[in-house]
Amino acid sequence: MRLPLWAQTNVSIASEGPLLFGVDYYPDQTPEDLWEEDARRIAEVGFTNVRIAEFAWALMEPAEGKFEFAWLHRAVETLHKHNIAVILGTPSAAPPPWLSAKYQDIFEVNAQGQRLYPGGRRFTCPTNPTYRRLSLKIASEMARSFADSPGVVGWQIDNELTLGSSMRCYCNACQTGFQAWLRAKYHDLETINKTWGTVFWSQTYTDFTQIPVPLPSGGDPNPGLALDYDRYQSYANVSFQGEQLEMLRKVCPHHFITANNVGLLDTIDMRDLYRDLDFVAFDNYPGFFEMLLHQQSSAPVPPDAISALSAMGHDFARGAKSGKPFMIMEEQSGKAGQRSFGPQPEKGQVRLWTYQAIAHGGMGVNYFRWDTATSGAEEYWHGMLNHDRSKSPAFDEMQQTVRELKALGGEVLNSKYVAETALVFDYDCSWAVTIQPGHFSLSYLPQVQSWYGAISPSHSGIDIVGPLSDMAPYKIVFAPLQYVVSEAQAAKIRSFVQSGGVFVTGFRLGAKTDTSQMVRTPLPGLLRDVMGVTVEDYVPIYSAKQGVKFSAMLACPDATCTLWADILQTSGADVLGTYTAGAHAGKAAITANKFGKGKAIYIGGDLDVVSLSRVLPSLAASAGIQQLIDVPRGVELTARTAGGKQWIFLLNHTADAQTIGLAKSFIDVVRKETLNGKISLEGYGVRILQA
Ligand code: GAL
Repeated sequence: MRLPLWAQTNVSIASEGPLLFGVDYYPDQTPEDLWEEDARRIAEVGFTNVRIAEFAWALMEPAEGKFEFAWLHRAVETLHKHNIAVILGTPSAAPPPWLSAKYQDIFEVNAQGQRLYPGGRRFTCPTNPTYRRLSLKIASEMARSFADSPGVVGWQIDNELTLGSSMRCYCNACQTGFQAWLRAKYHDLETINKTWGTVFWSQTYTDFTQIPVPLPSGGDPNPGLALDYDRYQSYANVSFQGEQLEMLRKVCPHHFITANNVGLLDTIDMRDLYRDLDFVAFDNYPGFFEMLLHQQSSAPVPPDAISALSAMGHDFARGAKSGKPFMIMEEQSGKAGQRSFGPQPEKGQVRLWTYQAIAHGGMGVNYFRWDTATSGAEEYWHGMLNHDRSKSPAFDEMQQTVRELKALGGEVLNSKYVAETALVFDYDCSWAVTIQPGHFSLSYLPQVQSWYGAISPSHSGIDIVGPLSDMAPYKIVFAPLQYVVSEAQAAKIRSFVQSGGVFVTGFRLGAKTDTSQMVRTPLPGLLRDVMGVTVEDYVPIYSAKQGVKFSAMLACPDATCTLWADILQTSGADVLGTYTAGAHAGKAAITANKFGKGKAIYIGGDLDVVSLSRVLPSLAASAGIQQLIDVPRGVELTARTAGGKQWIFLLNHTADAQTIGLAKSFIDVVRKETLNGKISLEGYGVRILQA
């Protein structure tokens, strides 16, 4: 039996609080005469762990087969002397120059067929046997050297496998790997040819070695091949990680093993990546989200748009391991920036982001990073110390936060996040829509993000689930742009609705099979009876305008449809909205069908964001979702429970103080005060209330 997390450390931590509050530290980039001072100051903050060494391959193996861990042992010992536990990172994300110079076939080839070059990081191919062998070798040598080191408690494998330049490799090794993967999946070419429909454009394969990777050709690739290629690339990365995981399990049976990734991305199937890890860890950079949103529009970025992106990452991480607490391996602590600086966190924001992680089911947070690098590509990425090693603007705030959280203790930190709502995130859909968006501006992840943003103000707790997850725990399940529907998923949806659940989906539902063929029955294919509609026509929207007029059941102002409209013909479903323009004016746009004890709702038009944020919460309310406390826009609410107790987290993501009315009395467990009636929550403020 595996030991519980807290029992796995052989470090004596003075505090009784949870272990995983820490910082990402770079002894490899810091003169050794500063380590002692750093360890003392890290301990003074109240941190209990550091993550180190994930980019130190060149120092640990300066020449092939020559391993030097003495310096790292000295660093671990210095930290341990100050009661700081160590998470070691395996260094495969940045191979050293001797390796790149000697092995010229390890480089990633991107989607344009161009080879990447060394000089940055993550420039390698996940399939390449040499890169895999050498990555496993350095990780194994490290593991053997540190398996019994007092002070080491766990491992992070690699660094952000999901983030690369193109996040797909198309090299010769990948082509051979893909062919072998196809052989294992389909067994024979006849099945592949039939499944992909290779008769089209004369692509019938007569030998596995003829099967190409989807590099630029004089026309688009076969969509079936392209979808399988995405699946293969995901598999290749998961199995790359798996090799190190298997080795670490054997060599370091008393250490926990995790990896860091980024919130919710669609590059690699992160559920597969996380499956065999002890817990999910990931990196959260709200300033980076703000920069991305700023790039998309020159209008000021609303605070709840940024906080929703972080919240979504947290909800995905928790859901990926069925509710198990997760850890933030890198939390933004200062201005984020590589070539340009991102926004400086406002006073209170780093504390707020830390509490947001805990509010969504986190059990620990490491800040990125201790000092700010004075050389290298991330000189602009600010940590807890400035370039001159003085305290950063948020330093004291982080210290206060860690103390507060440790004082909360394990009961709150190990409590369970409560969700009545689920949102489906399906990798097959994301990849299939990227291959054939249908409308060149349509993509899956932004659709899921808009739906999440629209649902989150109902504060009912959202689990982000997979297409085959158990839906029984939820009152309502949302599944936007569910373009691919497998028979197994259709059966799950059918029985969820039959037994009383509310299922909300929309345009393009079930247009494709999971083998990437267009369905041969009228849409929405396998779910036509459940939805109680037939898609009469589907209309990509460019310059022509389409709108939706709502019925009394939704009672919203008229909406516009942005990219798409499925024109619906009902067979028993109620009409909640009709199209307003052109030949389809008066036809059904939104429907609700009673099926068994539940309801299936079809939103045929790609509603503008404002309308979506009216319609989805109103559907949630009619499914019985109730707010625990009424909060103003920009204030987030989540709940966690344990042993019959409930903690309500109130998080003010706005710069202004907000007033919240309480219908009953609560205790603020951080400030230790009783609250009644109207309370004030300062700008970027946090309260944790217990009834
Ligand atoms: C993360 C990464 C770190 C560092 C940080 C700031 O994505 O894991 O190594 O690069 O971003 O750029």
